[in-house]
Amino acid sequence: MENTNTPVTIPRIGDKAPSFKAVTTQGEITFPEQYTGSWVILFSHPADFTPVCTSEFMTFATMEKDFEAVNCKLVGLSVDGLYSHIAWLRTIKEKIEYKGMKNVEVKFPLIEDITMDVAKKYGMMQPGESATKAVRAVFIIDPKGIVRAVIYYPLSLGRNFDELHRVVVALQTADAFQIATPADWRPGDDVIVPPAGSCGVAKDRMEGKEDIKCYDWFFCTKKIAKEKIMAMLTKKVN
Ligand code: BEZ
Repeated sequence: MENTNTPVTIPRIGDKAPSFKAVTTQGEITFPEQYTGSWVILFSHPADFTPVCTSEFMTFATMEKDFEAVNCKLVGLSVDGLYSHIAWLRTIKEKIEYKGMKNVEVKFPLIEDITMDVAKKYGMMQPGESATKAVRAVFIIDPKGIVRAVIYYPLSLGRNFDELHRVVVALQTADAFQIATPADWRPGDDVIVPPAGSCGVAKDRMEGKEDIKCYDWFFCTKKIAKEKIMAMLTKKVN
């Protein structure tokens, strides 16, 4: 692919995810259009055949079914070429046994981006960290192609994939139930309800007249059963 001197941009939360076509280990993709109707995590790693990235790919591939279960697909990227990707993923499958994971097959697409066009569109090249390798960027994109969360890590720091799964679940829960989620929230924990629209409602809440617990007028929570959240998560998003 020709280098088009793509300007460097950083997609922000609430932006439409920038579109691109790319070659991947699973064939060509048109992003994010091809993923309409699904959540998708677009993530970059610094380089093939490096240890932190290898541990990340083994973990992500092992958890792919957990992401599928919440209607979320995975797409990786580095500024390496396709044959490097293929050779690295084959090495992982055939040779690497790590933390009980072995024979790990990476089935999600891994984008080749030797021109850095996609990496630049997604602010994955951060020269203060490295001029030649993408940082560990994570874009969580909703079924309408809107960027909903952006997380960046430096080269030395492997990501926590349970946390990425938690973010997808929390965003879907916030959308479905019109609530917010507090620190360290997990399904089954209390959720935060929007502020009361009037003094009367706030007073009722404070007096415990609704099924809502208020710590003060601006900080109220309610319960949503874990089963209700699980049922919502497994419903296909259209
Ligand atoms: C790694 O994945 O191990 C790695 C990649 C680039 C710089 C440092 C570490």
